Amino acid sequence: MSLEQIRSFYPPIRTLMGPGPSDVHPRVLAAMARPTIGHLDPVFVSMMDELKLLLQYGFQTKNDLTIPVSAPGSAGMETCFVNLVEPGEKVVVCTNGVFGGRMKENVERCGGIAVMVEAEWGRAVDPQRVEDALKKNPDAKIVAFVHAETSTGAQSDAKTISALARQYGCLTIVDAVTSLAGTPLKVDDWQLDAVYSGSQKCLSCTPGLSPVTFSPRAVEKIKARKSKVQSWFLDLNLVMGYWGGAVKRAYHHTAPINPLYGLHEALVIMKDEGLENSWARHARMHGALRAGVEAMGLSFLVPAAERLPQLNTIRLPDGVDEAAIRQRLLNEFNLEIGAGLGALAGKVWRIGLMGYAANIKNVLFCLSALEATLADARAPIKRGVAVDAALSALR
Ligand SMILES: Cc1ncc(COP(=O)(O)O)c(C=O)c1O
Repeated sequence: MSLEQIRSFYPPIRTLMGPGPSDVHPRVLAAMARPTIGHLDPVFVSMMDELKLLLQYGFQTKNDLTIPVSAPGSAGMETCFVNLVEPGEKVVVCTNGVFGGRMKENVERCGGIAVMVEAEWGRAVDPQRVEDALKKNPDAKIVAFVHAETSTGAQSDAKTISALARQYGCLTIVDAVTSLAGTPLKVDDWQLDAVYSGSQKCLSCTPGLSPVTFSPRAVEKIKARKSKVQSWFLDLNLVMGYWGGAVKRAYHHTAPINPLYGLHEALVIMKDEGLENSWARHARMHGALRAGVEAMGLSFLVPAAERLPQLNTIRLPDGVDEAAIRQRLLNEFNLEIGAGLGALAGKVWRIGLMGYAANIKNVLFCLSALEATLADARAPIKRGVAVDAALSALR
């Protein structure tokens, strides 16, 4: 391709039902096209204050330090680890999929010692094993776990793990990238200490922002650090000066102004729907998809009690080429679903029902497209029953 050939980029119109990003709400896209203003403009600063309030509602917290980090979920993850883990400290890291593995990397890069609590991929973290690790490591300072493991579709019991961490004198770091707005997440009730999320999952905003919240206990630990946070950009002592309120707001970095308009709009949509209604809608749409998938004769990887409604991991029928089906869904139906990761590669599909994408139109479209494609590939499925089963589940 030559430079002369390059024109404006127009992406195809897809339906995003993978592990994220999810379909962005049209109101969010429209908000992002509004005029850019200065990031220290008083009008922008008051929008930042609204953003904090909206995020506090989303996280169900009164934590003062509740802000969007100007970078994707991985940066929210790093913000928690680089600020809370000091060299030589022990962190109990629970892993039941890809993202727990990244937490271990973070601990080690901060000079900490990761004590691993492993669970099978596709299962929730076992609180008993967390307690065993805490008993064996009385000097542990933090327990880190993924609330909603997007790589497998399993949900862990954040409330119970947090209570255990407290009992043994530890803070918690919680990955809520996929749970925020999709499934109950109650930061204050469950006494979670450092929680990070992402804009591109159940909030239906564009990728690139990471809402985070820190409890007063976590802030105390950050303020009492013996060593400097090794990342200048993510050092919350500095970021707090920027997000700390209109009077003391000081330049730290140029905020991603238009993406923050988008996040603001996404959070207004969430507030207007109501968090409980949003959780209930995700659960209802999951119920409809599940009924359709099971009527076809397919099964779920994760046991029902540990399953995330917003991320459905479905086993492949015998003799089916996983990637070929996904490619046909994309090319012929403009429908994106996700592949399995790591040990699950080639064995499962991951179907997201996140935020704006969690609606009945998408559920029926996905079931029909999947059925047609599998039938064409001569997969052993039951035909003509999925849509009816999904609709019956909603009645
Ligand atoms: C559970 C979980 N944690 C962390 C991340 C990383 O977020 P990002 O890709 O926005 O950096 C993701 C992204 O899919 C995720 O699902």
